[in-house]
Amino acid sequence: MVRFVRLDKRGMLCYHGSAMNIAVIGKGGREQALVETLADSSGKPQIFSFPGSDAIFRTAMPLVADGLESLVDAMVREEIDLCVAGEESYLVKGEGLANRCARAGIPCWGPPKESAQLEASKEFAKKFMMKHGIPTGKAVAVTNAQEAREVIGGNYPAVLKFDGLAAGKGVAVCPDETSAESFLIEVFERHRFGEGRLLVEEFLTGPEISIFAAVCDDKYLVLCPARDYKRLKDGDEGPNTGGMGAVASRRLTDENTLRVIEQSIVEPTVAGLREDGLPYRGFLYFGLMLTPDGPKVIEYNCRFGDPECEAVMPLLQGDLAGFCLAGARGEFRPELISFSEGWSVCCILASAGYPVSSHSGDKISGLEDCKARVFHCGSKCADGGWVTAGGRVLAITATGATLEEARKAAHAEAAKVDFSGSQRRNDIAYRNI
Ligand code: AMP
Ligand code: GLY
Repeated sequence: MVRFVRLDKRGMLCYHGSAMNIAVIGKGGREQALVETLADSSGKPQIFSFPGSDAIFRTAMPLVADGLESLVDAMVREEIDLCVAGEESYLVKGEGLANRCARAGIPCWGPPKESAQLEASKEFAKKFMMKHGIPTGKAVAVTNAQEAREVIGGNYPAVLKFDGLAAGKGVAVCPDETSAESFLIEVFERHRFGEGRLLVEEFLTGPEISIFAAVCDDKYLVLCPARDYKRLKDGDEGPNTGGMGAVASRRLTDENTLRVIEQSIVEPTVAGLREDGLPYRGFLYFGLMLTPDGPKVIEYNCRFGDPECEAVMPLLQGDLAGFCLAGARGEFRPELISFSEGWSVCCILASAGYPVSSHSGDKISGLEDCKARVFHCGSKCADGGWVTAGGRVLAITATGATLEEARKAAHAEAAKVDFSGSQRRNDIAYRNI
């Protein structure tokens, strides 16, 4: 893309090459997928990112900042027309990203802090669902290990959820007392996730599905559904992770199930937000379990899923930038985007030690041979190549007209890429379909 360099009012170098400037906030594979899809929009907007990553900065310009306040200053300086929230933490940090953008007059695709409590507090979300009759598992909030034991009452599996942001690691499905006790130690003695309460939730069964809606005030568009694979190992074994892969397709669920989900969950959630005076413009993610009693909400997230985003974005057609800008201004324009009919499969390569720890600096090989889309979740440039720099390192996505085509290509292309200690699941898009 041709970029023009100009000096802004303060004499600083600015890059300007298009009608629209968009800031994407976050640094992972999800944000890279958003950056690339937004950059591909019809108006060819200029994308900026904070904190971004080496992979993101191949497409986007960096926003130089060291906190929310200076980030918004940088957005004003770069004449940002639209802020797109990728990562959840910024939505609830300090004053809240969207709240701060609103004060600076920058439209933000992502909800204000008060609405983002739907993700940031599991207790808040549970109360919201109870109040609005949205199907979900029963739960009790406890403040210490002894209370937790009493509520569990010897019934296993027990589902324990820390009541705060924990990067997908604050939930434990405990098959027995030993595993429950060790999670209680993590939460109440080691304070692994910080201070907070714990929810003891009813154990639900059934296949899981991730439903995404683009919400604009009282209106919404349900996007292409996806399924992620949260456990580390094949066969859904091993610890929960942020997600080891994903599959997306409009055909992932039948029409009837999707209609039930929309009527019993999406519609009442959007109506509930309005009723409770919680403004919402942005992606809303419904983590659902299709139980024998119908779909139930496991969790809400106030942003796109990761790695689902890396699977869904390659299927998106149309003008995502125009859609998000209109939506952030309160104008619902569903006709601007659509999803292709095919399938998309994303395989994650994670570093040694993940999810307990992560390993940085391992040289990544085979990227030049990989013909699939590669999104970088945790990597950096070093000595003219790429090295690991996080738990989840790469998301490798292939699309195809059929499920078979997409999953074969995704696994074959992911197998070409390697680094010391890399971990990958072989059953992504084969299991639970
Ligand atoms: P969450 O972070 O709330 O999405 O939970 C992480 C994972 O834990 C989910 O994807 C489920 O596999 C599992 N899980 C969460 N809640 C329940 C529940 N009530 N019953 C059974 N499994 C659950
Ligand atoms: N894939 C799960 C999440 O984004 O929380």
